[in-house]
Amino acid sequence: MATRKSNTLKLKFDSARNLSPAPESKSAAKIEPRYDLFINGKFEKPLSKKYFSTINPATEEKLSEVADANAADVNKAVVAARTAYDKVWKKMPAKERAKYIYRIARIMQERAREFAVVETLDGGKPIRESRDFDIPTAANHFFYYAGWADKLEYAFPNRTAKPLGVAGQIIPWNFPLLMAAWKIAPALATGNTVVLKPAETTPLTALKLAEIIQEADLPPGVVNIITGAGATGAALVNHPDINKIAFTGSTAVGKMIQHAIAGTNKKATLELGGKAANIIFDDAPLDQAVEGVINGIFFNQGHVCCAGSRLYVQESVFKEVIRKLKDRMETLIVGDPLDKNTDIGAINSRQQLDIINNYLKIGKQEGAEMYQSSCNLPRKGFFCKPTIFTNVAQSNRIAQEEIFGPVLAIQSFRTDDEVIEKANNTPFGLSAGIWTDKGSKIFNLSSKMRAGVVWANSFNKFDPSSPFGGYKESGYGREGGLHGLSGYVNLV
Ligand code: NAI
Ligand code: MG
Repeated sequence: MATRKSNTLKLKFDSARNLSPAPESKSAAKIEPRYDLFINGKFEKPLSKKYFSTINPATEEKLSEVADANAADVNKAVVAARTAYDKVWKKMPAKERAKYIYRIARIMQERAREFAVVETLDGGKPIRESRDFDIPTAANHFFYYAGWADKLEYAFPNRTAKPLGVAGQIIPWNFPLLMAAWKIAPALATGNTVVLKPAETTPLTALKLAEIIQEADLPPGVVNIITGAGATGAALVNHPDINKIAFTGSTAVGKMIQHAIAGTNKKATLELGGKAANIIFDDAPLDQAVEGVINGIFFNQGHVCCAGSRLYVQESVFKEVIRKLKDRMETLIVGDPLDKNTDIGAINSRQQLDIINNYLKIGKQEGAEMYQSSCNLPRKGFFCKPTIFTNVAQSNRIAQEEIFGPVLAIQSFRTDDEVIEKANNTPFGLSAGIWTDKGSKIFNLSSKMRAGVVWANSFNKFDPSSPFGGYKESGYGREGGLHGLSGYVNLV
């Protein structure tokens, strides 16, 4: 009986994997061979005279080259942002500001298909995700904050919200356009001007956002977009005329930024790493929970700061959950990110793939048991099989450190107190997930969990109106929602 069942499952998996290719056409993506820096409303050649390449991580082919901004370029962008702030943006009536933000959202919607293809080519994420999640959610953030721009007196009753001035914004490669939207939209709504630096492996959608900003006729200098790697980011952080740093990325760089701005008047919001726990109780709807766990760790190749990278399963259903998880993993399609059937695309860079592979080695050395789905990986590009570890100890590095890949560390538990203790036992505190039939358990656990977001019977749900951010080494400050406005204003 068991054999027949597994044979049937195998047939089903084989046929899922053998679906005919359904690639999205690349023709929607208009990528220039070279991009300059977007400063003062124009694309300007870098004073550094240097450029670097951005590649497609699924094929290792060069897509374009972008400018490598040095400190003089950063200064030029900050001067443009300061001038635009003093002369235009801070004086503009809020309802006029709102119209520009709204226009950016509308143009982004119109160009959504093009943006989705470029996002997938440059970063490696499945087209289904960039098309259905990244681009629409980015547009929604602009819509949402356009609505707040002329209603700040309701956001902060009996107070006056004053803009900070020039915001320096540094973003990572996992949700390139969405992170740009998270940062730019609330800054503009509150009357600040911006210098944004996208990540060096995924600069293209931010540069295309610069095209939208031109098309929306935003006054020159209100948003400046400069490209470069860590040194460019550091020059932005250290520029004396920046009033606020908004950063999303690694905890290591977040700590460096904190040191760099200590003793200055610069404000900061830091969104850093995570090691989220998904917790399955024995009364949970197990198929639904397994689906949520799969989504939580394999969504965007696990390149998600709030990824559910740890799983705690109540002992009585442990075996059943592991079996269901393995069965579901077998059906996942890993490969060409442009194919609409693909579930797991390319790892963002060779460097990130090396980090993940090193953790797979560490996990095995620590004595954990590794299981990977039996899929084949493409020969070119950076790919990783969906992976789970069982037999994991709480002190293992794979249970404590952020891996940022499709790798799940699994443990069992018996009681509520035990799982709360284990779930809270990492340096991070960004998010968590609880799967149970009982509302009382949800309330008990979510109030004791040291995590900025706790999802109940769901995972990785986002909305522009809900705040997002962490505890402990996951950073501080909140983005999104009403809370996201606070990081960009002084209240008087
Ligand atoms: P990273 O933190 O170095 O990069 C994020 C951004 O910071 C990029 O735009 C980068 O150019 C910039 N940056 C780098 N050094 C800087 C500096 N000294 N000053 C100012 N800006 C600087 O992250 P990386 O190296 O790409 O990834 C390493 C690890 O970080 C990943 O394995 C993952 O664990 C974590 N990570 C977490 C993210 C999150 O969303 N919380 C996003 C990306 C990475
Ligand atoms: Mg790239």
